[in-house]
Amino acid sequence: MTKQSRVAIITGGASGIGFAFAKGLAETGYAVVIADIRGGAEAAAKLVEDGHGAIGVAVDVTSAADTEAMAQEAITAFGRLDVLVNNAGLFTTLALKPFEQIEPAEWMRVMEVNTLGPFLCAKAVMPMFRAAGAGRIINIASTSPIKGTPNMQHYTASKGAVIAFTRSLARELGSANVTVNAIAPGFTLSEGVLASGMENVMGDAARRTSRSIQRDQVPQDLVGAAIFLASEGASFITGQTIAVDGGGVFL
Ligand SMILES: NC(=O)c1ccc[n+]([C@@H]2O[C@H](COP(=O)([O-])OP(=O)(O)OC[C@H]3O[C@@H](n4cnc5c(N)ncnc54)[C@H](O)[C@@H]3O)[C@@H](O)[C@H]2O)c1
Repeated sequence: MTKQSRVAIITGGASGIGFAFAKGLAETGYAVVIADIRGGAEAAAKLVEDGHGAIGVAVDVTSAADTEAMAQEAITAFGRLDVLVNNAGLFTTLALKPFEQIEPAEWMRVMEVNTLGPFLCAKAVMPMFRAAGAGRIINIASTSPIKGTPNMQHYTASKGAVIAFTRSLARELGSANVTVNAIAPGFTLSEGVLASGMENVMGDAARRTSRSIQRDQVPQDLVGAAIFLASEGASFITGQTIAVDGGGVFL
């Protein structure tokens, strides 16, 4: 692989919102590492076909060994690492249900993927960021903890934790010249959402009428915020959560 000017890892990048981030960053000139539990080779091949630098790695973000190997693969393939997008999460495979019906094992797995995952990935990239003297961490949260979305208590609590983690990690890593920010998407018609039929149960308010800009949100709507937070222009912004939801919530 040729050495690239800037390199980004996108977890959960094999499809949906994560793939939109990978494609957008690749089109901006980044080499991208698509890290996904289902493997990222096929998704990376699509970007390579279009002339971009990309590799896919099979990673379970809840495994410390997998996340450390992921960070190392970025260095092996492209010689550097600049950005981590913590996008992998459990959402589209979850059923909406009252909290009394959520079993502890399901609660713990959601917490594991959505909170332990970003923590392990951040830990794994830090040796590279410290060696480089800079780095960017972009956590994908959700507007659900801001709205208090019901019937998905484990998910809502996990994304609230992502926002808290973003703030405290920003304070801890400022001295290392690493910024940590979050993007909070509104309900988005990702491939996973469309495959699950979730858009039919969410209702028109979640999808459109509660927004200032009253239309469905698609993965591409989130890409500009990630490119900005990874850019030089965002170097003095840290600990922030940017809601990208057509003006549904105001932070
Ligand atoms: N779609 C929405 O409405 C919406 C709204 C707010 C926030 N989000 C968040 O955006 C992110 C992406 O959402 P999406 O709709 O594209 O979801 P999705 O379910 O379509 O995609 C999630 C991706 O993460 C991968 N993944 C799951 N568990 C993993 C693990 N343990 N290790 C590595 N990869 C794993 C999956 O294979 C998949 O490719 C998630 O963090 C989600 O919570 C989504």
